[in-house]
Amino acid sequence: MNITVIGRGRVGGGLARLWEKAGHEVRALGRDGGDASDADVVVVAVPGNSIAEALQRVTGLKGQVTIDTTNLYTERDSAFPSLSHQIKSVIGGPTAKSFSTVFASAYEQIGAQRVTPSSLYAAEPDAKGITARLIGDAGFDPVYVGDLDPGARLLEDSSALTRALAGQMGPFFYRYARPGEL
Ligand SMILES: NC(=O)c1ccc[n+]([C@@H]2O[C@H](COP(=O)([O-])OP(=O)(O)OC[C@H]3O[C@@H](n4cnc5c(N)ncnc54)[C@H](OP(=O)(O)O)[C@@H]3O)[C@@H](O)[C@H]2O)c1
Repeated sequence: MNITVIGRGRVGGGLARLWEKAGHEVRALGRDGGDASDADVVVVAVPGNSIAEALQRVTGLKGQVTIDTTNLYTERDSAFPSLSHQIKSVIGGPTAKSFSTVFASAYEQIGAQRVTPSSLYAAEPDAKGITARLIGDAGFDPVYVGDLDPGARLLEDSSALTRALAGQMGPFFYRYARPGEL
């Protein structure tokens, strides 16, 4: 797959490395932007309060399948129910949210775990299959929470729980499984 990641920091740069290892073509853009017209999938990995500015600097955004990884620690723009909806209002393609509840600092240790860690995701129907595949190709087990509405906001609102847990135990993996599957 041809993937353009907007943001090449801990999340964007980290996912780019994982997906390149899995055989994908990945271009990671920094704050200066660039062109995404070749992309089959666009991944947004910039600070939640920089989404509008970051997307403005990227050309070739034209309805691609989009995966939003962002969280927000400042006030929310009340025009959008979630950051994913804000991103969809610009790119316009089938949209999903994932990787927002997992720690970039632990990406390199995924392969060394006894069981595959989960990554929760919310997705519109036409983004679901590609998102599940890319979560798997990054080394995680995809766990679907439902459609973008209300799934994306549920994931964003869970960031306070993630931070509280990280305050107790540092960066962590998690696994959701049905009884008998662990
Ligand atoms: N770190 C984590 O473990 C983690 C986990 C889950 C979710 N998240 C979320 O994922 C997103 C990315 O986090 P990160 O930790 O990867 O951040 P980061 O390491 O600070 O990287 C941010 C990236 O966004 C780019 N960017 C584009 N426009 C920007 C602007 N206007 N202002 C600032 N940066 C801009 C930066 O460009 P340059 O390279 O040119 O500076 C950089 O590549 C955030 O929404 C964060 O809340 C992070």
